[in-house]
Amino acid sequence: MEILGIDIGGSGIKGALVNAETGEMLTERYRIPTPSSRKPDDMAEVVRQIVEHFNYSGPVGCGFPSIVKEGVCLSAGNLHPSWVGVNIDELFTQATGREFTVLNDADAAGYASMNYGVGRGKSGLVIMITIGTGLGSGAFYNGVLLPNFELGQIPYKKYKKIEQWAAASAKEREDLTFERWGKRFNKFLKYVELIVAPDLIIVGGGTSKKWREFSHMINIETDVIKAELMNHAGIIGAAVACLREHHHGHLSEKS
Ligand code: BGC
Repeated sequence: MEILGIDIGGSGIKGALVNAETGEMLTERYRIPTPSSRKPDDMAEVVRQIVEHFNYSGPVGCGFPSIVKEGVCLSAGNLHPSWVGVNIDELFTQATGREFTVLNDADAAGYASMNYGVGRGKSGLVIMITIGTGLGSGAFYNGVLLPNFELGQIPYKKYKKIEQWAAASAKEREDLTFERWGKRFNKFLKYVELIVAPDLIIVGGGTSKKWREFSHMINIETDVIKAELMNHAGIIGAAVACLREHHHGHLSEKS
């Protein structure tokens, strides 16, 4: 089934049509920068433009950069604080006239990796980390999603959350080399290892495209691998989650 997957991030809102049964992207990715206000109505308008661009009338899967429970945004993350309490599902349905399945963006990216990428068949605790404006995390135990893990929220030194120090946005803001930023990212992974003792960590998100430039800075005990679907994983995973919800009424990995 062909489903429109949308990945909402702090800097860009991206969409593509996906074959949700095979995890294959069927079109080019279409990207519109996230409105600088990062407010609900402005972002809903961009979502509308993406749906219109694909001239799409079916259900939409959407990864969203915050805690999402039953379609409702429960934390602001790096978006405008007025998002908290907003029913994202309803807002986007109103804006587009389409049905939405909304889940956390890193959970969506993990979903794609666990079904069609390097996480396929991996058991135990697998943590997907996405590097972008924030640090996202998706947790899977024996392939089943444990939604809304927020490992980027660990406080660190003077920072309210470690993602403010170790995400791609910090690299950009402070103009850090991959070496210097990579050290920070490794420190973050060390905490992840210490706190949840994963069996495998998969690294995705926009910055994973530059894997070659920072992977040598990673030295923790746990295996750390790159998500080969890279920054398409968020789009693909959102579409897959949408299909699962439609067919099974839940987001369980095993069908
Ligand atoms: C949010 C997460 C999100 C991550 C990546 C963080 O700021 O708290 O929910 O997954 O950014 O977008």
